[in-house]
Amino acid sequence: MEMAGAFKFSRIPEIHFGTGSSEKAVSLAVRFGERMLLVTGKSSFSNSKRGKRLLYDLDAAGIKYDIISVSGEPVTTFIDKSASVFREQPPDVIVAAGGGSVVDAGKALSAIIPVPGKTSDYLEGNPVRTAHPGTRLPFIALPTTAGTGSEVTKNAVLSAPGAPAHKSSLRHDNFAPDIAVVDPVLAAGCPPDITAASGLDALTQLLEAFTSTTASGMTDALAFSGLERGFGSIRKAVEDGGDLSARSDMAYAAMLSGIALANAGLGAVHGFASVLGGYYKIPHGVICGTLLGAVTRANISKLKGSDGSSICLKKYSAAGRLICKKENKSDDYYIMSLCDELEKLIMELDIPRLGRYGITRDDAGKLAMETGIKNNPVNLDKDELKAILVSRL
Ligand SMILES: [Fe+2]
Repeated sequence: MEMAGAFKFSRIPEIHFGTGSSEKAVSLAVRFGERMLLVTGKSSFSNSKRGKRLLYDLDAAGIKYDIISVSGEPVTTFIDKSASVFREQPPDVIVAAGGGSVVDAGKALSAIIPVPGKTSDYLEGNPVRTAHPGTRLPFIALPTTAGTGSEVTKNAVLSAPGAPAHKSSLRHDNFAPDIAVVDPVLAAGCPPDITAASGLDALTQLLEAFTSTTASGMTDALAFSGLERGFGSIRKAVEDGGDLSARSDMAYAAMLSGIALANAGLGAVHGFASVLGGYYKIPHGVICGTLLGAVTRANISKLKGSDGSSICLKKYSAAGRLICKKENKSDDYYIMSLCDELEKLIMELDIPRLGRYGITRDDAGKLAMETGIKNNPVNLDKDELKAILVSRL
């Protein structure tokens, strides 16, 4: 066995995980003060039983709160407008209860309210970017979907207005929330298509972090544990939303995917997602889900044909063994099982192909030209990237 390699691991939030943990949200928030900004989705959370309970607990605790509701993926101008309302008198704490977009909006507000200027000044990809000082308001995340893992990451994905929309991250080591309250019950009402897409986002993040060129022993352990739970429970969570054991496994997988990606990076599937997500209105989880099988197959076939690939192929084999649940088979068997099982899963979960969103063969060529492969375990050239897109039209 090789010696443990060097790595850097960023700070993660205090985590309260488990069924019923959201009941502690108000008592956790009062640690920071008595003025709260609550960020939610359009209506689902504040109308849900748990949401109403949270509002009741806030009133009972004498907490003054404002509510901002976010619809769709957050746009920088929305963050600017919302932040300007609170600059004079910032809240003591921001609590975001919702899906990945809501948590990202809350995270962005916690970072933008205390600093001058516009959100876009601090965004990655801005050639004249101002370095963010890292100061932010206290922030608590309560995810209601199991997918992005944003409750534990240090970046918020935002869209800049305009067409094509351009997605960029607001990122700083300090931006990870202070507290993540991960209550699987909050996802119980999440519909099957969103459960499937966000679950596949989590699985993609886990597999990409696991096989990333910048993975460490520590991120491997977390990613593997998440894959074990996620592969085992994604079908059950989609088939029966009320299955709390499956919901817990998916919430766990998603949370670990966030920690793993923040510290190990991602691969070509997410490279595609940042480009496609800008041009087309396709949910992030659908892009990941629809491309995961094809990218994994392309990575494996390229790794098999090149040298020095054994560690990564071993990882794909370990993941294949988890997903096929068979013992005493060869690495090759497990590696091919991984590809087959992922493709089967994506079909069974009814993840749409890219053609459904109007993407054509010509578009595939242009999109491939713009795609970067992040920390993918092997290089994929533009022709190979185009072939992956074409195979999923
Ligand atoms: Fe993702």
